[in-house]
Amino acid sequence: MAEHTPVLLEEVLAGLAIRPDGRYCDATFGRGGHTAAILAALGPTGRVVGIDRDPEAIRAGQRRFAGDSRLTLVRGSFGPLEERVRAAGMEGELDGVLLDLGVSSPQLDEASRGFSFMQDGPLDMRMDNESGQSAAQWLAKAGEREIADVLRTLGEERFARRIARAIVAARATAPITRTGELAAIVAAAVPTREPGKHPATRTFQAIRIHVNGELDALASALPQAVRLLAAGGRLCVISFHSLEDRIAKRFIRREEQGDPVYAGLPQVPPHARPRLRRVGGAIVASETEVAANPRARSAVLRVAERLAA
Ligand SMILES: C[S@@+](CC[C@H](N)C(=O)[O-])C[C@H]1O[C@@H](n2cnc3c(N)ncnc32)[C@H](O)[C@@H]1O
Repeated sequence: MAEHTPVLLEEVLAGLAIRPDGRYCDATFGRGGHTAAILAALGPTGRVVGIDRDPEAIRAGQRRFAGDSRLTLVRGSFGPLEERVRAAGMEGELDGVLLDLGVSSPQLDEASRGFSFMQDGPLDMRMDNESGQSAAQWLAKAGEREIADVLRTLGEERFARRIARAIVAARATAPITRTGELAAIVAAAVPTREPGKHPATRTFQAIRIHVNGELDALASALPQAVRLLAAGGRLCVISFHSLEDRIAKRFIRREEQGDPVYAGLPQVPPHARPRLRRVGGAIVASETEVAANPRARSAVLRVAERLAA
């Protein structure tokens, strides 16, 4: 079975400040690495809801945790987080919500999922590969300017226009259906190389984020996570690139400040009061963890605590 090593595991457990009878949501269940550690810290009355939009993640989780009635798995995007938690039958408030964003190792390693420029496979990139538009379908129809915009904004790719032009020229001859083809088109279009980085890294990241609507799902889930948390409950967000981290960081900062309209006024109504308190700064993986798990290199964990209303 494909494996995924959970990143920042001890830091997440400390961040969630696990209570043995607590109720937690692992909104990015993956292969259940963080969930397993949370369950191990919980007593018999603790509960976990695990969410993942990848049907294979849910199937693997059902096998791995069969018989542990403290865990409920829900398939779907965490975008409508409150709805997913309710669908799991979890009533009342939560003590912690974890978002460990991006893709899992099994998704990247399985060539047939189409996430990797290192191995040739169908150009898919959908986390939920049973619905929505694949990367190949999007690239077949999108306009040159739209492609360039996605590469620039979601991949921070300097050569976005050149790459978009090369994609549009290539698809006029034959549809781009394989990851290997896309990687070769990008490599030929990019004039310089970043040390230690495949020239298609940014393009693949951008298309993956776009096809999966990753930033929208995150922006939508964060305020719902705050509403779901009990006072003292913890929010932990692990991001793997600056776009995600910026969303998490700004969200926590805004929620720490409360509604600026009431700044300096003696009476602040409950809905305008700060709802979160930051717990420490950005947490990154130790050298030891990065040496053992290179995926941890770009991980950044942010932790916040829900304040009483
Ligand atoms: C980095 S992995 C999580 C790994 C997990 N923490 C573990 O230790 O096994 C991210 C997982 O989140 C899922 N995911 C990403 N965005 C999602 C979204 N918007 N809704 C639901 N699941 C999502 C992916 O399918 C993937 O399985």
